[in-house]
Amino acid sequence: MEFTVAIDGPAAAGKGTIARALADRFGFAYLDTGLLYRAVAAKGGDPVQAAEDLSAQDLARDDLRTLAAGQAASRVAALPAVRSALTDFQRRFARTAGGAVLDGRDIGTVICPMAEVKLYVTSSPEVRAQRRWREVGGDLAQVLAEVRERDARDMGRADAPLRPAEDAVLIDTTDMTIDQAVSVASAAVRARFPERTTP
Ligand code: CDP
Repeated sequence: MEFTVAIDGPAAAGKGTIARALADRFGFAYLDTGLLYRAVAAKGGDPVQAAEDLSAQDLARDDLRTLAAGQAASRVAALPAVRSALTDFQRRFARTAGGAVLDGRDIGTVICPMAEVKLYVTSSPEVRAQRRWREVGGDLAQVLAEVRERDARDMGRADAPLRPAEDAVLIDTTDMTIDQAVSVASAAVRARFPERTTP
């Protein structure tokens, strides 16, 4: 059975948490596509070559979650040749037998426009900056500035800009707990896949 859940949205909106919970509940494979762009940027050198040569080892680095790695990722992610080098891998993953959930910026719009379920997860920049600041520490004002800068770059780029797919379910997590957001997302999956019950 092939069943794809595409989750898009800006930095620190809660995509990863929701994606992991859906993978757990429904037995889907999970791909954090942001990690691909983070790893390409961290590899250094020519980003297109880095994207073409990306290996499992590159994704296992322990320095990919920093703010700096996120900023560097959003710079290489604006390059069309980098994006296209990563497309096939993501599309193959999306068709994993048993179902797959992918989170990123262009999953519902470009990578998997035929996904059975599309979610667009967002929340206010202030709340997202608070969440990221709790994970990485540092100066809250600077974290907020970086969140805004990355949003502007990801939404403003010419190739695969961040935006909700027309048929995406919008989930604004600003005033939601994790459990609430996960139940809205699970309901969207169940609506397309009614024979699967939540364990
Ligand atoms: O975890 P967070 O939401 O902060 O970021 P991420 O998902 O790890 O993505 C890092 C950067 O990679 C983003 O700011 C985007 O520029 C880029 N990205 C993208 O262009 N397309 C994707 N499918 C995933 C990430």
